[in-house]
Amino acid sequence: MKRLYIQTYGCQMNQYDSERIARVLGRVDYVATESIENADLILLNTCSVRDKAEQKVYSSLGRWKELKEQREGVVIGVGGCLAQQEGERLLKRVPHLDLVFGTHNIHKLPEMVEQVQNWRTRPVETAFYRDPSYMEDAECRTHVQGSKAFVTIMQGCNKVCSFCIVPHVRGREVSRPSEKIIAEVECLVRQGVKEVMLLGQNVNSYGKTSPGEINFAELLGCVNAIPGLERIRFTTSHPQDLSPELIEAFATLEKLCEHLHLPVQSGSDSVLARMRRGYNCKEYLHRIRLLNDRCPQVALSTDIIVGFPGETDDEFQSTLELLRQVEYDEIFSFTYSPRPQTVSAKLYDDDVPNEIKKDRLKKVQSLQREVSLRKNRERIGAVEEILVDGQSKLKNGQIMGRTRTNRIVNLLGPEALVGSLVSIRITGASANSLVGELLTVDRECDSYLEGETA
Ligand code: SAH
Ligand code: F3S
Repeated sequence: MKRLYIQTYGCQMNQYDSERIARVLGRVDYVATESIENADLILLNTCSVRDKAEQKVYSSLGRWKELKEQREGVVIGVGGCLAQQEGERLLKRVPHLDLVFGTHNIHKLPEMVEQVQNWRTRPVETAFYRDPSYMEDAECRTHVQGSKAFVTIMQGCNKVCSFCIVPHVRGREVSRPSEKIIAEVECLVRQGVKEVMLLGQNVNSYGKTSPGEINFAELLGCVNAIPGLERIRFTTSHPQDLSPELIEAFATLEKLCEHLHLPVQSGSDSVLARMRRGYNCKEYLHRIRLLNDRCPQVALSTDIIVGFPGETDDEFQSTLELLRQVEYDEIFSFTYSPRPQTVSAKLYDDDVPNEIKKDRLKKVQSLQREVSLRKNRERIGAVEEILVDGQSKLKNGQIMGRTRTNRIVNLLGPEALVGSLVSIRITGASANSLVGELLTVDRECDSYLEGETA
């Protein structure tokens, strides 16, 4: 038995990939460890979507030099988006690095580690594949912990957003066969999973590049029909592709949670054009209205970039205006950073000064805090269902879970409820989370309630 330590940066897809890395290496006798000091193989699964994420990778790798010096035979590898972006260059920049594997090459890891150990080479694998079999495991996912799981349904993106490195590092859209996805969800449910999050860079394009495959709304229908599964979420959906079928899915599929992440990026038409997003504000708002008319309960979240090249104060004010108008439940906001190979980095100077970017970020975030607080307060008194995730991050002895609309709720209750769906009443609110009290719990936990009342 050999020990494997994986550090994961970045999005949910990287988390899913890290689980796959552990499974693939598990077949050649590697067992995951939490302790980097004892590991025989140390892997870093990286992100390069923004400059900050990239810098984090180099500082981790710098710290690991010592580990390599201290213990003979330790193998260090880098995978994920930065590995895809840099390839061979990473080996030059980091002399103590043994191997580099790109976003499509997880299945090659056992062979690569062997090459390092037996042949003392430094392998680099960054090829892209169009056949989706590179995303598959030979067997059902095992050792799943908890009641929630990610399931990647597609990789890559065929859009051309000028700021975005994802198409360069994850490749063109490749969808997994629907029967594999459904089998994977069924297997997860058998192991106690109640909620799945379907992942892809642009999930609404699911199946479009695979002749004969079902589309995303149909896939949601199939997943919805899996007995024992309670909740379905997905991310991310491009606004241009928010189809009538997807809106209908929200209205008709009882397991599909009432939450949609729909990145808008900017509230200014001229910035959106420079970003090459393929929609203007009017079109974006129209789609939201259609969704809202059919399903008023759906909560919305979004991504915002401030300080895109050439962003004037007026253009920035339009973003604030859009945030006031839509009243998102949650936003994720970022300052623009130019990424290698992207159109915006080639065409435009990164000309908004750093202090202005930071100031705009602060303004966006403080406006959103007000909106989120107001919207959260409006929920006080409401009865909602939450899936209990674990202990509250507040470390106050409470437990926490998420509503179907993806709000965090902290409440008093026994840890035995972790993994259960429970009914709660909202009793308090802050900008980031809600406070609740327990009403009832699902059947599995009846014994707990009986115990309480006895
Ligand atoms: N559709 C993708 C988007 C991935 S990138 C998905 O969610 O799967 C996630 C977010 O990072 C983007 O929506 C955008 O807001 C932000 N982002 C991407 N490139 C960026 C850049 N160059 N500078 C700043 N933020 C960026
Ligand atoms: Fe990136 Fe735009 Fe695709 S943000 S992942 S190129 S939809």
